[in-house]
Amino acid sequence: MFIPKVLLVNDDPASLLALASLLTERDGYEVITARSGEEALRKVLTNDFAVILLDVSMPSMDGFETAEAIHSHPRSSAVPIIFVTAHYADEMNRLKGYQRGAVDYLFTPIIPQILQTKVAVFVELAKKNLQLQHQKQEFEQLNLDLKEQRKQDLEHINERRLAEEALRQSQEELRQLASYQERIKEDERKRIAREIHDELGQNLLALRIDIAMLHARTGATHPKLNKKVHSVLDHIDSTMKAMRAIINNLRPTVLDLGLNAAIEWQVKEFQRRTSIACALMMPEAELVMDDGRATALFRILQESLNNVFRHARATKATITLTHTGSRLYMSVADNGVGIFPGCRRKANSFGLVGIKERVSTLGGDFEIDTGEEAGTTLTVSIPLDDTAGNAANQFTLAEGMSTEFNRRASDGAEGAKPARKRGQTAKRKREAEAVKLDASKFNEMT
Ligand SMILES: Nc1ncnc2c1ncn2[C@@H]1O[C@H](COP(=O)(O)OP(=O)(O)O)[C@@H](O)[C@H]1O
Ligand SMILES: [Mg+2]
Repeated sequence: MFIPKVLLVNDDPASLLALASLLTERDGYEVITARSGEEALRKVLTNDFAVILLDVSMPSMDGFETAEAIHSHPRSSAVPIIFVTAHYADEMNRLKGYQRGAVDYLFTPIIPQILQTKVAVFVELAKKNLQLQHQKQEFEQLNLDLKEQRKQDLEHINERRLAEEALRQSQEELRQLASYQERIKEDERKRIAREIHDELGQNLLALRIDIAMLHARTGATHPKLNKKVHSVLDHIDSTMKAMRAIINNLRPTVLDLGLNAAIEWQVKEFQRRTSIACALMMPEAELVMDDGRATALFRILQESLNNVFRHARATKATITLTHTGSRLYMSVADNGVGIFPGCRRKANSFGLVGIKERVSTLGGDFEIDTGEEAGTTLTVSIPLDDTAGNAANQFTLAEGMSTEFNRRASDGAEGAKPARKRGQTAKRKREAEAVKLDASKFNEMT
């Protein structure tokens, strides 16, 4: 605990004692004595005093000199000094005392209470000073702590900003990756569809032509064989149908007839498969856009209708397409049970996430409006900018396929019997007619 100190300076031991006896009885401070100015200076260098009671007349170094020396030292420059004198009570000396920085000038005989009160005031002042110093230190420390805290906060903010930036970047990269994969998937589907069509389709067709020829030739001569050949033909036909379905699944060729037709087909197919009544509303004019957008819309419709079938328990679905010139809106609404809270984002459910990604890649918006037993409406909107430029790049598989098939059908018809082409008999002509008919039938099928 801090105990203030009071320094008494007097060369006369009796006076020192008398003065000390007046003060030591008081609690709350410690009294230290010095017998000369020099001793007083030494004490001042090692102690902090609340007040110094200084005798004026002392040998070698008088009170005034001592006061000057005390105040000239930085440690004690502000110590209050009270001169106590028996001999220098005149005004001149008093003035001199005040000029040396005295706070008071007392003459003996001293009234004890006055001295005690004055000392008590300075002791109190010293205590308050110390308290203030402590508070100042505390404030300074607090200030330092706050500065440190602020620095750390700024660092955290910076770190968070960097982390957020990294997260944003990684999300953007993921989005790009997802869109890239989606593109690759669609391209791969197209490629496989083409390959099945070109390789398998061509061989099947060649086979069908040969078998058809065999069928035509054996009709009259080998009825049993003819029957067998007929059933082989049926097999080939159903294989071709299955192949067609696979191709369509991989890459709906109906898309190449335009988005309107593709959507109409899709909705019709859905209604046929699920018996859920569908209403389709869309502009009569052809919706022209690039292949990427058309495929995305087609897949979104596919996924949305699948969801209606799998989750909604709906009896009706309404599909609406509108456009404002620069933007296309598509909504799929059902009258089902609505999306249950918390169900929208399930683990291993990527349908809605996929829709969101596709739409965001195209710079569009995606919204779901749902309520318990209030059905679900999924709305997407995508910008139709630069469609004119890309429309030319549309992939026309159906067109390509049918010309290919036509070409191969005639190749097949001729290629099957090239040597005998010129000398065809009436029978051969009939066979060739039959084959041609078959080829056109396949074209319809494909
Ligand atoms: N039309 C809808 N009606 C009711 N619930 C739906 C509908 N569409 C989606 N949901 C709910 O949202 C969930 C997430 O859908 P989705 O992302 O497509 O994944 P998945 O169909 O594979 O479950 C579904 O499991 C279902 O609970
Ligand atoms: Mg789904």
